[in-house]
Amino acid sequence: MTMLYPIVLETEENGAVSAYVPGLPVYVAADSHVKAERAIRAGLDIIARLATLELSDAPHIAVRIGIASGLVVVQPDNRSAAGDTMVIASRLQGIAEPDTIVVSSRVHRLLQIRFDCLDRGEHLLKGIAKPMHVWRVTGVRRLTSRFQAAHMAPLTAFVGREAEVATLREHWRQALAGRGQVLTIGGEAGIGKSRLARTVLDELHDDATAWFTELQCSPFHTQSALYPVAEQLRLRIFGNQPQSDDALRWAALQDFLRSTSLPLDAALPLFAQLLSVAPPSTEPMLGMTPERVRLMTRQLLVQLMIDQARAGPGVILVEDLHWADPSTLDLIDHFIERMRDARILLLLTHRPTLDHALPA
Ligand SMILES: Nc1ncnc2c1ncn2[C@@H]1O[C@H](COP(=O)(O)OP(=O)(O)O)[C@@H](O)[C@H]1O
Ligand SMILES: [Mg+2]
Repeated sequence: MTMLYPIVLETEENGAVSAYVPGLPVYVAADSHVKAERAIRAGLDIIARLATLELSDAPHIAVRIGIASGLVVVQPDNRSAAGDTMVIASRLQGIAEPDTIVVSSRVHRLLQIRFDCLDRGEHLLKGIAKPMHVWRVTGVRRLTSRFQAAHMAPLTAFVGREAEVATLREHWRQALAGRGQVLTIGGEAGIGKSRLARTVLDELHDDATAWFTELQCSPFHTQSALYPVAEQLRLRIFGNQPQSDDALRWAALQDFLRSTSLPLDAALPLFAQLLSVAPPSTEPMLGMTPERVRLMTRQLLVQLMIDQARAGPGVILVEDLHWADPSTLDLIDHFIERMRDARILLLLTHRPTLDHALPA
């Protein structure tokens, strides 16, 4: 007998279910690594949550997830989507083992530096003419101190932009010499801001101690305090540990903070709050006004970012600042004031809709 259970899983990765093919929720994502990353994270989250879901009279519910990236045609009225990408995603879902995620080679190419993947070889997919190389995502790759730029296979060769690249290089040289640099890259969507910013990763290659941190602002979280910062820290501290285990997360947070110069006693409750980790019941309550929490958190985050530059020079890339929430903008303003003597290049990309004057 087949029983149907309506299950609502809230994922933290805003995997908005925006279209349906029969019986199958589909996350429709444009061809960008940010959205593809969200789709994979939402998929991992769904699998993790289903694994811990207890239903009184049902066996374990398994899911198979397929993720493809490309153009789709979306009907504005009922938001149904069509196109080859939908067919590929649905076929990938079909060949996935229970509780696994299978992605197209295009998604793999976009995201192989962020996720561990297993090569599943070439498959002939029904309705698709050529055999397709597919990959199984096994988990989130822990961010190393910097991106392994060598592993990031560009989709197309970088062309032009000589003047801009020269400017980036010059600023990186200044940063290496201990003069903190702030550089903004503004322009309409699709003009090449991210691609240009990423060329700086090639420069990092020359310095074995150099590091790279990326904060990605999100259009879905323009009012969520410190969203891109919290996301980056979560990835760095928890990797792919199950989101639900607060004890593990608390311990991981403690370990992380011990590896920094931040005062543990002060930082632990504030970071726990920032990252939504429930403290153990033995822990005293945070007895501070919200304003004090905000100021202390900001101060610790600035210190954390400045401290990174003690071990080596680095780049902090803040992507799509026009979507940043007010606390993130406030943090960046304060950080810019403090980073003058740090070996840091702060790169900010934004669209013309950014309504915020950065410190000069
Ligand atoms: N100089 C370039 N050479 C080759 N491809 C580029 C270049 N600039 C941008 N692209 C490509 O154009 C697309 C949009 O660029 P992207 O950097 O994502 O734009 P933005 O961040 O401004 O929205 C990407 O696929 C990118 O790889
Ligand atoms: Mg971009």
